[in-house]
Amino acid sequence: MSKFLVEGGVKLQGKVNIGGFKNAALAIVPAALLSRDVCIIENVPMIEDIHVLSQILETLGAEISQVDETTMKIDATNVKEINVTTELSRKIRGSYYLLGVGLGLFNHVNMPLPGGCNIGKRPIDLHIKGFEVLGGEVSIEGERISVDADNLTGNKIYLDFASVGATINIMLAAVYAEGKTVIENAAKEPHIVDTANFLSAMGADIKGAGTDIIRINGVEKLTGCTYSVIPDQIEAGTYMVAAAATKGDILIDGIIPKHLEPITAKLTEMGMIIEEYGDSLRVTYKDELKAVNIKTLPYPGFPTDLQQPFAVLLATIAGECTVEETIYEDRMKYVEELKKMGAGIDIVGRIAYIHGKDKLKGTPVIARDLRAGAAMIVAGLVAEGITEIREIAHIDRGYESIEKKFMNLGARIRRVD
Ligand code: UD1
Repeated sequence: MSKFLVEGGVKLQGKVNIGGFKNAALAIVPAALLSRDVCIIENVPMIEDIHVLSQILETLGAEISQVDETTMKIDATNVKEINVTTELSRKIRGSYYLLGVGLGLFNHVNMPLPGGCNIGKRPIDLHIKGFEVLGGEVSIEGERISVDADNLTGNKIYLDFASVGATINIMLAAVYAEGKTVIENAAKEPHIVDTANFLSAMGADIKGAGTDIIRINGVEKLTGCTYSVIPDQIEAGTYMVAAAATKGDILIDGIIPKHLEPITAKLTEMGMIIEEYGDSLRVTYKDELKAVNIKTLPYPGFPTDLQQPFAVLLATIAGECTVEETIYEDRMKYVEELKKMGAGIDIVGRIAYIHGKDKLKGTPVIARDLRAGAAMIVAGLVAEGITEIREIAHIDRGYESIEKKFMNLGARIRRVD
């Protein structure tokens, strides 16, 4: 089992290049199957979740090859059905997009229920509701789910909650459905727009992605295309937070600054200097930072995926503040790890009351989930002494070359077996 050893105390400096967005790639790569043709997907992050997804697609008959470091060629001509037999799909949350793909493409799909980070109950009832409204029949037996339809017909679907996964999955199922599908109270996250743009590049007719009403007119055929995944705003946000926590000065390159507005706004409110240059942001520490309150919300609100790293930053500056998690019921377990490092945090329900102090102490901690793992690295970078982070496989699921990128910024971080 590998672990990270992080020695705190270095102010991060230099430039970091941001990779393709994990959550967009996890939708776009399986969506390529809908073309039953060859797609070239560029800017795919080389992370464990994508490796697992590629293996699953290969078991379905897709031919996948690496054109270059971040470009994948996906040939879906030999995919005849979506019947996922490998248990690999239980390792990642994004495998649920095969439900929409299989239903859209073959009117049938059978697979294990999806996995992913353990951050509370993560039902897929809204995905199911969407499939049923389009004419699908869903059955769950044990740990497997199947969806069947005689015919998929466009319809109106109102989502009780603007779920990212349900919005994308319904779009995937609806691209071939007869007539018009309207998703109301759709999620508006950048990867919804990215997936819709990719589907449109293959010939789908989708309007309104990025707003709360998405309209899809079913088409008869999609064709292969070349498409580039948007940059990962969560990865970028993680480095921005690390720059603030270490009182550093770094350039975050290869991003879409607009996607980072919720983070930029909060860091600016705290006193960080953030300058925008086209596709990069310079994040500079100038003066003592001020504590702020955080509440996670669907996009364009503050992203839940940065709640944990941000809480670490807040725990290391003087002042009282709160961090409220409204998206997931159990995304505060990492606080136990932070407390081992000396952080002053009390949890009541889904709110963390942070009594900030300027020092954390390096100690062995566990990466409880993907973003909690990133938070532990940020904590290690500011702590006195050495922080040993175990169970870093969680981190590798979603961050590309994380220790190399941090080392390039001057951090003292080492992966050891
Ligand atoms: C996706 C992202 C995840 C991110 C989240 C919110 C992927 C692979 N994962 O997760 O990194 O944290 O968006 O930005 O892209 N819910 C239901 N019923 C449903 C669907 C969701 O109750 O059918 C609830 C979930 O339990 C959760 C909340 O809605 O509490 C958010 O879920 P959703 O927006 O769907 O996120 P995910 O697709 O799971």
